[in-house]
Amino acid sequence: MQKKDSLEFEINHLLEAILYQYGYDFRHYARASLERRVLNRLHLADLQHVTELTSKILHDPEYFDLFLKDMSITVTEMFRDPSVFKAIRKSVCSRLRTYSRVNIWHAGCATGEEVYSMAIMLQEEDLLSRTQIYATDFNNHSLTIAKEGIYPAEKMQLFTENYQSAGGQASFADYYQAKYQFAKFKDSLKKHITFANHNLIKDQVFASMHLVMCRNVLIYFDQQLQNQVLGLFQESLVHRGYLVLGDKETLEFSAVDKSFESVDTNARIYRIKTDV
Ligand SMILES: C[S@@+](CC[C@H](N)C(=O)[O-])C[C@H]1O[C@@H](n2cnc3c(N)ncnc32)[C@H](O)[C@@H]1O
Repeated sequence: MQKKDSLEFEINHLLEAILYQYGYDFRHYARASLERRVLNRLHLADLQHVTELTSKILHDPEYFDLFLKDMSITVTEMFRDPSVFKAIRKSVCSRLRTYSRVNIWHAGCATGEEVYSMAIMLQEEDLLSRTQIYATDFNNHSLTIAKEGIYPAEKMQLFTENYQSAGGQASFADYYQAKYQFAKFKDSLKKHITFANHNLIKDQVFASMHLVMCRNVLIYFDQQLQNQVLGLFQESLVHRGYLVLGDKETLEFSAVDKSFESVDTNARIYRIKTDV
């Protein structure tokens, strides 16, 4: 095990090297979990020092891809935190209905389960036909799965329960075709979704959004990076647009706190204030 000081120095060096070579900036990811993931990769590679890992990553882009996967926690599920979807149905959908065209951005969409959940809910609220959903992540591997919209059949029981708790109005099985051990979500949902690679740290705003969903992503960033990314969301939202964060994330004490009002504290739904 490396000494704490030299470990910190070597990790800083690794992150600078990755930024220089590949343009990915992990310097402001939450340090404790970043350190855990680097040490785990060191262990898996049977290496003693982070400098050895740095050299491997710098000279082997495929190995960097592996590191990128380590840095991207993709745990997700359909209608995750069902009460949040219920709250969006109740407090946000009626407002979205006042627009003729609606843009929604899922930032950090991972393998897409949250995005298909949104599309299903919008269909039931008669909003899908006027909505364009943008679903982005910086992990191409996850995006490939998201674009396919095919998930293990064994997960459907949990997803069905979540859907029902989220106020689902139909039979969940209506939205997918079961084939062997997989469930493929319907193309009619996909038609309204654009999946794209987007890195929240270095890429810009790309459209005006009525709702930004960014759940369980900011938790991996330090406060400085959270503020930067929240600034990006504020910039991308229309007047009185909505922002939804994960259950362990908040705007409280952030740089944009004064620009938003809380719509539902438990569900972490915020809205741009009238006077901003
Ligand atoms: C835990 S998943 C969240 C999935 C979904 N939003 C949910 O709450 O179920 C976090 C996602 O954030 C993505 N992510 C992390 N850093 C990112 C960055 N700088 N730019 C874009 N996506 C990022 C990861 O690749 C991962 O897919």
